[in-house]
Amino acid sequence: MTISFENRVAIVTGAGGGLGRAYALELAKRGAKVVVNDLGGSRDGTGHSDAALKVVDEIKAAGGEAMSNGASVTEYEQMVEMVAKAKEAWGGVHILINNAGILRDKSFTKMDPADFELVVKVHLIGSAFATKACWDTMREQNYGRILMTASSTGLFGNFGQANYGAAKLGLAGLTKTLYLEGAKNNIKVNTLSPVAATRMTEDIFPEQAFARFGPENVVPAALYLVSEDSPTNAIVGAGAGGFHCAYVTMNRGVFLPPEERTVEGFAAHWAEISDRKDDFVPQSGSEQSQVILAAMQKAGAVG
Ligand code: NAI
Repeated sequence: MTISFENRVAIVTGAGGGLGRAYALELAKRGAKVVVNDLGGSRDGTGHSDAALKVVDEIKAAGGEAMSNGASVTEYEQMVEMVAKAKEAWGGVHILINNAGILRDKSFTKMDPADFELVVKVHLIGSAFATKACWDTMREQNYGRILMTASSTGLFGNFGQANYGAAKLGLAGLTKTLYLEGAKNNIKVNTLSPVAATRMTEDIFPEQAFARFGPENVVPAALYLVSEDSPTNAIVGAGAGGFHCAYVTMNRGVFLPPEERTVEGFAAHWAEISDRKDDFVPQSGSEQSQVILAAMQKAGAVG
C-alpha cells in the first residue's frame, strides 16, 4: 500500500538542507503541499541565506507544490505568520516536522552560557513555538501529526554537547505531554533520533561511513511518523538503513518500611532499587505514583 500525503499541508522547519530538505522533497513527491522553512544560517546559527527558496525551486521543478519561509523558529510571531500563510494558501496545516537546529559544541567546562542558551532556544523553544503556532489549527481540524527531532546525545549523552543534549531530551519530554494533550483531537506526536551525513556531522563521521549515511535513509521513518496511521508517543532511531525504538522505562523498585527510610536504608537497598528485572514503559507520569500506591497497598500501608 502506498502511503500518500495528498491533500495534506506540511511544514518542515530547517528544510533548506540536510535532513529537512530530504523530508520536504519526499513529502511533496507524495502529494503534500510543503512549507519549506529555513533561516539559512551557518551550522552555529549565525547569518542567513535563501536556502529555503532553493528547495522550493527543486520541489516545483519536480512538479510539486511548496512555499518558502525564511523565519527563525525562535520568533513566535513569525511562526504564527508562517502558519497563517499556509492556511491562507492551502486551507490548513496537518503536519509539522520540527527539524531546525544548530550546534555550538564545547565541553561544559569551556561552554559559554550564551551558547547553552541559544542551542536550547533554537531546538527546544523553537520547536515549542512552531508547534504552538500550529496547535489550535490542528485541534480545530481534528487532525495533526507532529514530529520532534531528538538525538542520541539527548537520549543517551555525548561528551561536548551539554546544551544540545539538554534541548534534545527536552523535545522527547515535550512529545510525552503533547501526545496526551493532543489525543482527543487526533493529534499524534512522535520523536525521531536520526543519524545522517549532513553538514552537522561532516567532521564527525569517518569518510567511508559518510557515504552510507545519506539523509534519504532517515526519510522512511520520518514520513511514517507523520502519516495518517502513525503511532503516537514513539521514540524512533534511524540511520543508514538501521531502524529502532528507544523507551523511557522505570522498574517497580522497592517499598521501604518507615524504619528503613534513611539514607543508610536507601544505600542498603540500592541493588534492588536499580535492578531492571521488572522494567516497564509508563504511558504517563501518573504511573510513577501508581507504582508507589500499589506497593503501599501490597505492604498494607494504606486502606
Ligand atoms: P543541517 O544543519 O543540515 O540542518 C539544520 C537546518 O536548520 C539548517 O538548514 C539550518 O539553516 C536550519 N536552522 C537553524 N537554525 C534555524 C532557525 N532558528 N530557524 C529556522 N531554521 C534554522 O543539519 P541536519 O543534520 O540536517 O539536522 C536536522 C536536525 O536533525 C537537527 O535538529 C539536528 O539536531 C538533528 N540531528 C541530526 C543528526 C545527524 O546525524 N545529522 C543526529 C541527531 C539529530
